Amino acid sequence: MTSGTDKGPTTSRRLLFRSAGGLVAAGGVGLLPVRPASAADATPEAEPFWGDHQAGIVSLAQAHTYFATFDLTTAKRTDVESLLRLWTAAAARLTAGQAIEPAQLAAGYDEDPPPPVPDSGEASDLKASRLTITFGFGPGLFVKDGKDRYGLSALRPAAFVDLPKFNGDQLVPEMTGGDLSVQACADDSQVAFHAIRSLALLADGVAQMRWAQTGFLSAPSGGKTPRNLMGFKDGTQRPAQVDKAVWVGAEGPDWMRGGSYLVARRIRIALEHWDRTPVSFQEQTIGRQKLSGAPLGLKDEFAPLGLERTDTDDNPVIPEHAHVRMANAGNIGAAEMLRRAYNYNDGLKFTAERWPPWRQGTLFDAGLLFICYQNDPRTGFVKTFEDMAKFDMLNQFTTHVGGGLFACPPGVRAGGFVGERLFRGA
Ligand code: HEM
Repeated sequence: MTSGTDKGPTTSRRLLFRSAGGLVAAGGVGLLPVRPASAADATPEAEPFWGDHQAGIVSLAQAHTYFATFDLTTAKRTDVESLLRLWTAAAARLTAGQAIEPAQLAAGYDEDPPPPVPDSGEASDLKASRLTITFGFGPGLFVKDGKDRYGLSALRPAAFVDLPKFNGDQLVPEMTGGDLSVQACADDSQVAFHAIRSLALLADGVAQMRWAQTGFLSAPSGGKTPRNLMGFKDGTQRPAQVDKAVWVGAEGPDWMRGGSYLVARRIRIALEHWDRTPVSFQEQTIGRQKLSGAPLGLKDEFAPLGLERTDTDDNPVIPEHAHVRMANAGNIGAAEMLRRAYNYNDGLKFTAERWPPWRQGTLFDAGLLFICYQNDPRTGFVKTFEDMAKFDMLNQFTTHVGGGLFACPPGVRAGGFVGERLFRGA
């Protein structure tokens, strides 16, 4: 690959972005492997990209995720818009199982000649693998360090609040926030990584990656609920009306209608501690049975929680501070959210736990990339987590170390680009 600052045969071709500072020039185009768009690629393995809503929100969860956020480094609004056009064109190709390829991307890019970006090639022989790419906007797109960099602050929705600091939060800046979020989900981890890697390359000179988290989810056959690393079924409860809980409606600004708010939290689980805790206490902590997933005292995983049930001593069957009681929307007066969490496993790390028995040493850096979608984070995540952060029994085993809140605009119609209505001032 030739540096954009080199003199030579490539200098007649334009850099990826005029302001790119020069990473990729056109020299390699055509020489690097690109994945052909064949009929085989247009199989049901591909999730539709264009539509009223972005894919990857209510889509059936894939086995792998690569969640990334970016900081915008440009001062120019037109650069941000060009990036979103380019990302849209690239995402349409990637989710169809195709390589990113300059000529095709030109459709989403208002300059000529097209951006000279070769595909990195590691997904060349792989199928679309139900890849979805979901874009979100962080608070920094609207205001950063008190500055309205792109003239968008007046369009920041009232619902798009800054997340408060919750009790016990140990968020580190290196894993928190971001001006843009991109979540790639696929049944093949290499396909998900390729997507983010490609989008990061296309962002050169305009945005740079801030933090990222991979995740996995092994769904058992037969449509059974997958388990998290605590060994419990996770995802049993779903909103009664998913569409109503997730999509922003007439109450939101035009540019967010059909979109959704994403809250991500990287939650470390003290697995060493959990594994040495009796299963009976684990079940009291969650409020459900470990094996069946049924609410305590019941047999069916999908039975209503029955929070009012008491035992012969008049104690609640599901403890006062059990996770499901503290998280239950009806019980706490919150709005329902759609959870779409992934397990993560980042090897080992030196850690000092914050709860008894205060383990200290080289421990698993593993847990849950908690992700939820809702039409209003004030009544959804913020309301739900307020008391949970203080009183949930689960807190003895978990630490929130990173995350963010992102406004995911609605889906894109062919010819448009993600977030178009925001940039048109609607
Ligand atoms: C490592 C962290 C977490 C773990 C291991 C975990 C695990 C679980 C499990 C096993 C269930 C029961 C099965 C189900 O309905 O899916 C559950 C339910 C739930 N969790 Fe979590 N969770 C975590 C963090 C959170 C957070 C941070 C929130 C939101 C602030 C949350 C919100 C919920 C909700 C709303 C339910 C459904 C409650 C109901 O039945 O109405 N969870 N979680």
